[in-house]
Amino acid sequence: MARFYITTPIYYVNDAPHVGHAYSTVNADALARWHRLIGDDTKFLTGTDEHGQKVADAAAHNSMSPREWTDVTSQRFREAWAALDIRYDDFIRTTEPRHYETVQKFLTAVHDNGYIYKDTYQGLYCVSCEDYYTLESSDEGRCPIHGRVLTEMREENWFFRLSAFEDRLLALYETHPQFVTPETKRNEALAFIKGGLRDISITRTSISWGVPVPWDPDHVFYVWYDALINYLTAVGYGREDDETSTWWPHSHHLIGKEILRFHCVWWPAMCMAAGLEPVSHVQVHGWLLVGGQKLSKTMAAEGGVKLTDIAPVMLTDEFGVDAVRYYLLRETSLGNDGDFSHEGITARYNTDLANNLGNLVARVTTIVASKCDGRGPAPEVDSELRDAAQTAIIDTALAWNRFAPSFALEATWGLIGATNAYLERRAPWKMSPGEELDAVMGNALEAIRLVAILASPAMPAVSANIWWRIGLEGTPSDEEFAQSATWGRYRGAGLIEKGQPLFPRIKAVVE
Ligand code: MSP
Repeated sequence: MARFYITTPIYYVNDAPHVGHAYSTVNADALARWHRLIGDDTKFLTGTDEHGQKVADAAAHNSMSPREWTDVTSQRFREAWAALDIRYDDFIRTTEPRHYETVQKFLTAVHDNGYIYKDTYQGLYCVSCEDYYTLESSDEGRCPIHGRVLTEMREENWFFRLSAFEDRLLALYETHPQFVTPETKRNEALAFIKGGLRDISITRTSISWGVPVPWDPDHVFYVWYDALINYLTAVGYGREDDETSTWWPHSHHLIGKEILRFHCVWWPAMCMAAGLEPVSHVQVHGWLLVGGQKLSKTMAAEGGVKLTDIAPVMLTDEFGVDAVRYYLLRETSLGNDGDFSHEGITARYNTDLANNLGNLVARVTTIVASKCDGRGPAPEVDSELRDAAQTAIIDTALAWNRFAPSFALEATWGLIGATNAYLERRAPWKMSPGEELDAVMGNALEAIRLVAILASPAMPAVSANIWWRIGLEGTPSDEEFAQSATWGRYRGAGLIEKGQPLFPRIKAVVE
């Protein structure tokens, strides 16, 4: 059986979950759902990144111990993911004992292999990035991302011999052209490696909130060094329940573009140093940005709104869970930056969901209810819709398989468009009950059944609802894709439920 192990970055617990985090997680969830649908043995990991100075500072600021603080804030991510119908198989917290054990095993292996040595670190540090800078890589002493003045640091640290891996990393990129996708991001990582790699400091003594270094307990590991290893903790690396050999060859990290260097340069080198194959694929996504447009009044803080001010639940309350998921997956192709706006989500909702999908289901169920005795007729073996369905099935599957949710949804919506056009042409509303009407409605119902399957990774609840409306039992993902996604499986005779509109239209906000 094929396997699929997908991960999101683990989120810093100093922030409340926002739409940017939701973007990473919804994409990973939809990809995991797709792979479960096609029958792959699938594991989807997400979680929270709980060490580091930033978290320790936030805890102190809130008069709590780091542990109390992370208990509270980690929970907020679970709640946000529940609100977005995220179905993870494992939620990791880096403060768990299993993580300490794996981190210590992994880094002891790197140490034993001779890739860790002691030296004095002197340089600049940004607490917001939890990253080191040199004067040259800084913006005149300020962080190029956060703009804050960088802290001068001088510590005796343990260093990782990253410089020893330049050739091996270049060979990895050469022999595995798909190691990092999309290609623009691969080139970025390659350019970084070709620019020359410096050894990196991997421990801290000035803070104690971290995983202790087993061979030198005055030190804790630098937060990124423990965080990256979470992907191995979840498969039991170095522990009794070790399933690394089962999952690691099928591992995919989905990450935002700003953490490319950690995942595409450091992490594969660390794996090599520990004597392990690197992760098999890193898929990089862009950022969602708030354009010039204001968001809805409730969202708009004085003087505009930042993306980080928008909690996912504000959106799900207004648009519904699956509409938010659809928007995040459909609007921006994975890898590019996207513009997030209230106008954008309203437009997608009204056009793609209310007009195209919602109307199709309403139209078909209404006609069947009034003219076919409320029972769905069977489709024809050879309908003109069959070709459109075939194309949509193939294109949707190819796109999900190449980590392209927006293209997958575009292909699925192609079938919705073709079915609406077919109904316009055949005008069943003008037909009298009888064979011809039954054939047209059976074909339309079959197309709707296929749409429900194809859209289910993105919109699980709405797809299940459509399934029920067209008289089918269970959910669209109960049966394996290869069997269910073929024309003619709709047998007819199911009781059709018209129900309430799937997507009542939303008025655009006029400021
Ligand atoms: N803790 C590290 C990751 C460690 S992984 C071993 C971290 N955490 S984070 O909370 O700052 O960011 C996690 C993810 O959220 C990143 O992939 C990041 O790209 C994503 N996003 C945060 N803001 C975003 C947008 N505005 N748009 C899209 N994704 C964004 O980095």
